Amino acid sequence: MNDEPSNLPPDRLLQPTTAKWFAVVFGGSVLYAIARYHLTGDVAWRHFPLFILNKATSLAAVVFVASSYLVGKIIHWHDHDKRLRLVVIKFCGLMGFSLAGIHALLSLCILTPAYFAKYFDAVGRLNLQGELGMAVGVVALFFLSSPAITTLPMMPKALGGKRWKRTQRMGYLALILVVVHLVVLGLKGWLAPKGWPAGLPPVSLVAVVAALVPIIVKRNLIYERRKREEQG
Ligand code: HEM
Repeated sequence: MNDEPSNLPPDRLLQPTTAKWFAVVFGGSVLYAIARYHLTGDVAWRHFPLFILNKATSLAAVVFVASSYLVGKIIHWHDHDKRLRLVVIKFCGLMGFSLAGIHALLSLCILTPAYFAKYFDAVGRLNLQGELGMAVGVVALFFLSSPAITTLPMMPKALGGKRWKRTQRMGYLALILVVVHLVVLGLKGWLAPKGWPAGLPPVSLVAVVAALVPIIVKRNLIYERRKREEQG
């Protein structure tokens, strides 16, 4: 991603670089969902507006949240411009939170046995898998709201450096809960790769890999820091 200098205010969230991020992450997620569920799978096109867009939205949400914790750590495209890097981190975090909220709303619109038979029992109530999956999703969304709200300009000053950093780290807890959300809802499908159309893994499996990357990177960074502290 190339960042041309521009005359835009440096802190503006929507600018050419972030627009490219959106095009790649959201566009890529929509294309993957279309390829996996319409072109190679058997989902009818009339289910694109809600069912398939919901899959794309949820995948993009996870990728954006993950990216917000990876830019500057293992994604170094914006390292030459500190201000732009901060804007990209903020954009990815806020976009991830917004898309996760949209995913929750879209899911509630179609949360019926006709769409998700595997999450319901015979009388039409959520079964244990459904209840657990939804409950963890709601808590994950709550924990995502914390770093999102504290990106507001007045928050670092209002909270103080240490507390502000702690709220930003809540996103890792949210990512761990997203992993649980995905394991509960998707594990069965992950274990049956023979049923994957054209060998394409389900969106939930792609998303769980994306969610695990920042968790593993953070774990490694903490491990290295502790090792340095012990040595020095
Ligand atoms: C109120 C909160 C939430 C609700 C009600 C909810 C609901 C659902 C439902 C019903 C599914 C199954 C969708 C399907 O198989 O098509 C699902 C899957 C998924 N959810 Fe959530 N979710 C919530 C929060 C979240 C959050 C916070 C994230 C991530 C930031 C997330 C990411 C995903 C992903 C990536 C999938 C896999 C989609 C797929 O395999 O099709 N969800 N969620």
